[in-house]
Amino acid sequence: MAEGGGGGTSMWEQTRQHYNSHVRDNFSTREALQQRNEGPAKELKDFHNHVKRQLIMRFAYKQDRVLDLCCGRGGDLQKWRDAQIGYVKGLDISEREVEEAKRRFMELGPKRSRGVAVNMVCEFEAVDWLGQRLFEDEKAGPGSYGVVTCMFALHYFFVSEASLLFFLRNVSANLRHGGYFIATFTSGPRVLKLLEGRPEFRSPMLRLARRWKDPHRPPTFGAGYICDIADTVTASLEGTSEGSLEYLVDLSALLQAAANVGLLPVIDYMDPVLATCFRDEDIDAPFKHFKPFFLHSLQLDYVEGKLPPQPPSSLEKASSLFAACVFQKVDSPHDVSVPMAPECSFMQNKQMKGGHMAHGLPMGHTAPGGHGQPPPGIGVPPHPWPHRPYGDVPYGGGQHAYGGGGPQQMYSAGPPYGYGGTAHQHGGQPSFGGPGGSDRHKRETGGPPGRSRFNQ
Ligand SMILES: C[S@@+](CC[C@H](N)C(=O)[O-])C[C@H]1O[C@@H](n2cnc3c(N)ncnc32)[C@H](O)[C@@H]1O
Repeated sequence: MAEGGGGGTSMWEQTRQHYNSHVRDNFSTREALQQRNEGPAKELKDFHNHVKRQLIMRFAYKQDRVLDLCCGRGGDLQKWRDAQIGYVKGLDISEREVEEAKRRFMELGPKRSRGVAVNMVCEFEAVDWLGQRLFEDEKAGPGSYGVVTCMFALHYFFVSEASLLFFLRNVSANLRHGGYFIATFTSGPRVLKLLEGRPEFRSPMLRLARRWKDPHRPPTFGAGYICDIADTVTASLEGTSEGSLEYLVDLSALLQAAANVGLLPVIDYMDPVLATCFRDEDIDAPFKHFKPFFLHSLQLDYVEGKLPPQPPSSLEKASSLFAACVFQKVDSPHDVSVPMAPECSFMQNKQMKGGHMAHGLPMGHTAPGGHGQPPPGIGVPPHPWPHRPYGDVPYGGGQHAYGGGGPQQMYSAGPPYGYGGTAHQHGGQPSFGGPGGSDRHKRETGGPPGRSRFNQ
């Protein structure tokens, strides 16, 4: 039974009602965009959209079929289209969000992206069973999606262990072998850190309110809390919702549960733009915490008569609660790899035609020189990615030289899969680096080298 959420069923109902009440009637996409661009949380929304866009571009580019769980109102439609994805199925518990997503998709229409005609097909459906029973796409059959995404919603499934397991089994059952599961979510350890044992954290842009009993001993599942980020879909609405009821995400439990259904974490995304989005200390960790920098957000916290606020701003604190992770459906940690960057596919084609591997690397090897370095002899293309449409320059809009190698095998563990952290710790990052901990740890302590991206 969830602490503070009133049990699984009523929690789903509460979530459904919360998101239903956030959809406004007779509001065009243009009006929604205008409101978004004028709202106080704009910088946070821009940054979070940027992270999603980069993850989609990196792991779902040109995929035939993507399954988006907890799709909301179609806020990622443009990203999917820009990534030239053929078909997206979106599922969400809020029927009003789903209606809005359908409407926005109709409005989007067929478009061209960098000269390429994109005829993306999207289907949206309201469902209440994602964390309650098994789902298999009846038309397409099992394992029919190349990528499954769940953006800013995984925390809802920590209402109970059963719910998380149903959810992850649904991810795995629909993912083809080798496919990726991309998720962003509120990180349990970050919520705990901000609460510091208090029942509530309150600031101008963020309110967190604990709903579980013992402040220092949250249960692994069902540790409910209210998250209310002003001017976002989690915000409280007078008379209808006090904010979004979420559940602490225990990182070790997530890693363990994902591994049990064949989903193993990708540690290195081999992407310099994404690297700028996450905290440096997470470089060797499966979960990447957001690293926001919002130029103008301190002024939101300023209250007349009080001392000027110090960084980080409350909007930055809100954004720092979030983390991303990418899992791959593979048999062993040694098989974990990242997709080849598009320019590498081009080069590999040339190599194949030429019948030699002078510049390239055989499958499953990282470029000499380590992370992000081109193999010797390969010039770095001036614009390595097909689409980095960042107006939002603060987040990696600069020059990024990415040479890449082959389809980089970058996983660093030796079997059996070891979890450095205890099974139910909320404190920090669980490691996934074999019995001795992460490879970074091994390097620093002089332990045996693993197959890290630095030393394969
Ligand atoms: C913060 S919104 C994120 C929406 C979208 N993924 C995005 O990134 O814009 C969270 C979404 O999760 C959905 N959700 C929460 N619990 C769910 C459940 N059990 N099944 C399906 N959808 C759920 C909500 O209705 C809401 O649309």
